[in-house]
Amino acid sequence: MGGTTMTVSISQAYSGDVHECALLLSRALGEDDVLKAIIRGENRISRLIEFYSALLRSGPLQHGTVDIARVDGGAIAGVAIWKAPHPPESHPIQRFREAMAVGWRHLADVRALDHEFDAHRPEEPHWYLTDIAVAPGHQGLGIGSALLSDRLTKIDAGRSPAYLEATTEASRRLYERHGFRFVDTINPAGPSAFAMLRQASALSPEPLVDEER
Ligand SMILES: CC(C)(COP(=O)(O)OP(=O)(O)OC[C@H]1O[C@@H](n2cnc3c(N)ncnc32)[C@H](O)[C@@H]1OP(=O)(O)O)[C@@H](O)C(=O)NCCC(=O)NCCS
Repeated sequence: MGGTTMTVSISQAYSGDVHECALLLSRALGEDDVLKAIIRGENRISRLIEFYSALLRSGPLQHGTVDIARVDGGAIAGVAIWKAPHPPESHPIQRFREAMAVGWRHLADVRALDHEFDAHRPEEPHWYLTDIAVAPGHQGLGIGSALLSDRLTKIDAGRSPAYLEATTEASRRLYERHGFRFVDTINPAGPSAFAMLRQASALSPEPLVDEER
C-alpha cells in the first residue's frame, strides 16, 4: 500500500449495478441511527438490501443520478444517490417494495419520521443527496469526497442549490468542506440529523454582462 497511488473513477450506475450498490449501502449504513429506525426487526440486512434496491429503481437509476466510484477499475467502492430538482413521480411498484422492506407494522412510524425529515427540505428546487456510502474497507481515503466533487461540479454548472441530512458529526465536517452549511437539527429527540444546505448563491457568480459605458 505505502507509496502507491490509487485511481478513483466516477461513473453513473446502471441497472446491472443495483445489487452491488444496495449491498454496499446496506453494509456501510446498516448501523446508522436513522436507518436503524427505518429498517428494524428480523432479517434486517436482507430487508436493507431490498429497501435500497427499491430506492435505486424508484427513479434515481433511470434518471442517471446514482454515482458510483471504483478504485483502480475494481469493484464498486462508493455510491451516492441523488434526486434531481423536480424528479418525476417515484415508480409505484418500487414504492410498494420499499414499504414491504420497512414492514407493514413499522410503516406508520416510518412515514411520520419521513414527514419530519421532509419538512426541513428547502421549498425551492434543489438537488437532494438521499444517501452516500463508501465500503467499510475504503473509508477515509478520499472516495466520498471524489463522489461529492464530481456531482457538485455538475450541479454548479446548473446553478442549483443542494441539500442533505448528515447523521454523524464526522460526515457533517466532510459536507462542510464541500460548501454545505448547517440549517437545523432534525428530530432532536432522536434519531436525529443535521439539515445542511449548499446555496446556489455561494457559487461563483455569473460573469457580468457588459455594462453600458
Ligand atoms: C461518510 C462517508 C461517505 C465519507 O466517505 P469517505 O470516503 O470515507 O470520506 P473521505 O475520505 O473523502 O473524507 C474523510 C472525511 O469524511 C468524514 N467521515 C465520516 N465518516 C467517516 C468514516 N467512517 N471514515 C472516514 N471518514 C469519515 C470525516 O469528515 C473525514 O474527514 P476527517 O477525518 O478529517 O474528519 C463514508 O465514510 C461512509 O460511508 N461512512 C459510513 C456511513 C456514514 O457515516 N454515513 C454518513 C451518512 S450522513
